[in-house]
Amino acid sequence: MKIIIERFDGKKKYESTYELRIDEVKGQTLLSLLQYIKRTQDITLNFTAACRMAICGACAVRVNGHSYLACDTKMEELLEEYENPESMRISPLNNFRVITDLVVDWEPSIENLRKVKPTITPKSEFSEKTGCVQTQADVDAIKKQWDCILCGCCASECNKLEADASDYMQPFVFTHAYRAADDSRSKDPMIHLKPAIANGLWNCVHCQECVDRCPKGISSFGDIESLRVMAMKKGLNEGMGPAHAEAFLLDMVEGDGRLNEIKLALRSEGVLANTTKLDIAYNLMKAGKMNPLHIFGGEKIEGHAELVKMVEAARKAEKEGTIK
Ligand code: SF4
Ligand code: SF4
Ligand code: FES
Repeated sequence: MKIIIERFDGKKKYESTYELRIDEVKGQTLLSLLQYIKRTQDITLNFTAACRMAICGACAVRVNGHSYLACDTKMEELLEEYENPESMRISPLNNFRVITDLVVDWEPSIENLRKVKPTITPKSEFSEKTGCVQTQADVDAIKKQWDCILCGCCASECNKLEADASDYMQPFVFTHAYRAADDSRSKDPMIHLKPAIANGLWNCVHCQECVDRCPKGISSFGDIESLRVMAMKKGLNEGMGPAHAEAFLLDMVEGDGRLNEIKLALRSEGVLANTTKLDIAYNLMKAGKMNPLHIFGGEKIEGHAELVKMVEAARKAEKEGTIK
């Protein structure tokens, strides 16, 4: 089969194609295959790896456009996933600047991590003598987020970063912000929450690609949602994002259970901002995607009463402290 690798020599992009027998491919991991190609066919191929045990996060690359942790991905599984293809394309992670071949620049991501101050500023009651004691439940609440190995698979798939990275950070940065903000030893969650808000917390487009691709089963999307809930509870609810979330809940519970695009836009951005978008509204109406009469509400969706009961049960559980 053919393994096509996207290359970059610091100036220009090009591709290298390596022909391998299927018995040379099977039984390898994606990382050992890259090492095999380097050893037997092309010493100039560059990639990064260290632990070979899914711990250091250094070896993530893309295969056919999707990110994988190379040392933790069996070639047989890839062959099955892509139905025994005649060729596979290996490329560097997306949404990172490529330094050379499959090696990407992590410095901007680390700079973003610095912004959310991922280390703990402990509460003043802790001392060198007493330490920072946590209950098992406190540890369990953020245990999953500690599993992040900074591999970048989530960032590579992130549709918001792809569309516009100028007002957003890598999904894993929000995971680390949440881990630090929700740590029971932390003196003040705001230290981590405020920079997360200032750097795009409300700009996630909810595609959940980050959840699908994380080799450690972490949901950065879920952590973003949790940070948003934390922000609302702490009264940090200014701006379009929180207004949008509140309007969405209003439509579900007090409205007919359908997202009312017209009301949502008016509540989230106000009348003035929407006057500049009349052409979009006109085109949506023309295409039958928006009904102006919906501003007065419509028929309740089937199961609306159950939906309201679910929201009320969640609110009750939150009050009783059984959910956060
Ligand atoms: S859910 Fe949000 S953070 Fe996750 S990939 Fe999509 S846009 Fe990015
Ligand atoms: S959240 Fe998952 S995919 Fe993202 S960097 Fe951490 S381990 Fe990798
Ligand atoms: S080499 Fe360390 S995670 Fe793959």
